[in-house]
Amino acid sequence: MRKRIRLHQVRVGMYVEELEGTVVAPSRIVGPILSPADIDLMMKSRAMSVVIDRRKGLDVDQGSRDGVENDLVSFAFDLNSRFGAEEIRLAREAIQDARPCIRDVLAEARTRGSFRLDAADKAVERIMLEAMTNAGAMIAVAKLKEKDEGTFLHSLAVSALMVTFGRNLGMSEQAVRLLGLGGLGHDLGKTVLPIELLRKPGKLTADELEVIRTHPARGYELVKQIDGMSKPVLDICLYHHEKFDGTGYPHRLTGSAIPQAARIAAICDVYDALTSVRPYKRAWSQAEAIETMTRSRGHFDPDLLNAFISKMVINGTIH
Ligand SMILES: [Fe+2]
Repeated sequence: MRKRIRLHQVRVGMYVEELEGTVVAPSRIVGPILSPADIDLMMKSRAMSVVIDRRKGLDVDQGSRDGVENDLVSFAFDLNSRFGAEEIRLAREAIQDARPCIRDVLAEARTRGSFRLDAADKAVERIMLEAMTNAGAMIAVAKLKEKDEGTFLHSLAVSALMVTFGRNLGMSEQAVRLLGLGGLGHDLGKTVLPIELLRKPGKLTADELEVIRTHPARGYELVKQIDGMSKPVLDICLYHHEKFDGTGYPHRLTGSAIPQAARIAAICDVYDALTSVRPYKRAWSQAEAIETMTRSRGHFDPDLLNAFISKMVINGTIH
């Protein structure tokens, strides 16, 4: 009764047969998982997957409330095993500092259809400062998207990912700032869509999907109202759902016809969406997210995706 599960699904009470795809082999935790400390050790192994024996211990409790709660608990363990207490505290502080500014940006877009550049600038300044020394923890802490916090934290995480990726690509601080602003505002067009549509559980109809797909153009129109708004920010709003092979929207642009800032945004947007922990959805591990993104041939700029993997993932900037 062997079963392969993801690392973050390991719970106290399971019996671990094998850790797969790990460079570290903490052999002493192969066997029963007796305590949170054992889970901690497992997390440190950074294994791609884990094989459990369901006859000797618990199975994954999929879909139940318990399962979801365990997922959140596991996320906390995971976070504590990868970052120091001070790094986590500073990351939380930075997110708290940026919160009122981002909330203002989202509220202004929703109620007046306009872009609060001053507030967005302030938030990006704070994100850029924290990302200098503590990018990994800030991005990790923002992964836990609790109720009503999803939009705010997704905007912040995409902004932080783009700032960090831009720096790792050797871009100037001014160019990095524009990536950060674009990341913060990339989905602003969604704030003017009907809330029930955005929150609808399950599959959307073709008509509903069409409405959702208007959000890049709506966001672009909203941000464009600011005189002299920089091109990369507008490009990110309008083109972040374009795909490298021309199958994206709204304009089905291909390859380098998609502005670079938008190609960067596409990678950071999808990465954060896949790896986020939400109350109703299990998060994917970093390895699973990267594997899926690599397999999605045609979606992303392959050179930029390779750079993301080598300069952000393999070197441990985000983990
Ligand atoms: Fe979007």
